[in-house]
Amino acid sequence: MGAKVIGIGTSLPEKVLTNDDLAAMMDTSDEWIRERTGIRERRIGLPTSTMAIESGRAAMEMAGLGPDDIDLFILATTTPDQRVPGTAAVTHAELGLGCGAFDLNAACAGFTYGFVTANAMIDAPSGPQRVLLIGADALSPLTDWSDRGTAILFADGGGAVVLERTDHPTLLGWDLGADGNHRRLLMGDHDSFITMEGRDVFKVAVRAVSESVLTALDRAGVSPEEVDVLLPHQANIRIIEAICKRSGIDFAKSHNVIDHTGNNCAATIPLSMAKAHADGALEPGAIVVMTGFGAGMTWASTVVRW
Ligand code: ACO
Repeated sequence: MGAKVIGIGTSLPEKVLTNDDLAAMMDTSDEWIRERTGIRERRIGLPTSTMAIESGRAAMEMAGLGPDDIDLFILATTTPDQRVPGTAAVTHAELGLGCGAFDLNAACAGFTYGFVTANAMIDAPSGPQRVLLIGADALSPLTDWSDRGTAILFADGGGAVVLERTDHPTLLGWDLGADGNHRRLLMGDHDSFITMEGRDVFKVAVRAVSESVLTALDRAGVSPEEVDVLLPHQANIRIIEAICKRSGIDFAKSHNVIDHTGNNCAATIPLSMAKAHADGALEPGAIVVMTGFGAGMTWASTVVRW
């Protein structure tokens, strides 16, 4: 059994914050941010639920499905609107869903954790036929806009897919990883901003993600040269370049949106997927690798035959 993506949707806030806007607020420059991160501008200003609802609705429309056609809903987010209940609740109500629904928090690896979870559920005995998986995060309310180490990176956004059961395998290999010893490298307590040890996160991310990609490829029996499409977490373009170099996947295969979206956590991989779809890269049979990492630290990779 497998699960194919039959709908993709995205949501970004209208408000654009450019590097020059940031340079007017703190000691930084457009040139520094572009060179060190690949970001030109980012979008901020919507709550997680709004972006989840908008992207979820768009994915269901593309799939030609109504709320009754969805059998399970997973919302990957680390920035719920409220402490209680999970943001899956309001999203579920606004989309008119009648199925089971839950939040999944694996930070920026959340969408990929959710993708593996959705596949496993679909594959389970009497599992769901169709799963709505959304990655949505609003990092801007948790960002200290005087901290140039984090404010240049973080943003808001949402992205969604509908997965439908198929009779042939699609998830060829996967790897889920975590190391809670690194939990203080990137954290935000209740009612405080996110703090980050940027250099250390960079190092852990490059090592863990390239190993994770190679593990997933090995389990799938696929070589790095055979990868057609790479959908990487959009945290820093230099991290993506380093991961490509270490894992042997051609950087030209990566579909990146970070220049205009910034890092919107669990939303970055579906946003990258939407770009690959618009570019015509997601052809049937294509080998597609997704890989993400985030606070925890967590990381996750999948190898999918599209
Ligand atoms: N503008 C100008 N100068 C800056 C800025 C800035 N915004 N930030 C740091 N600098 C300076 C530093 O003070 C330092 O100066 P010095 O040499 O005089 O001491 C110099 O630039 C280099 O600083 P580094 O911290 O070494 O810069 P680096 O190249 O590592 O880039 C960055 C910093 C962009 C934060 C990088 O480390 C990074 O991207 N790390 C990974 C972060 C990440 O991926 N986080 C998301 C995880 S996913 C999630 O869960 C949300």
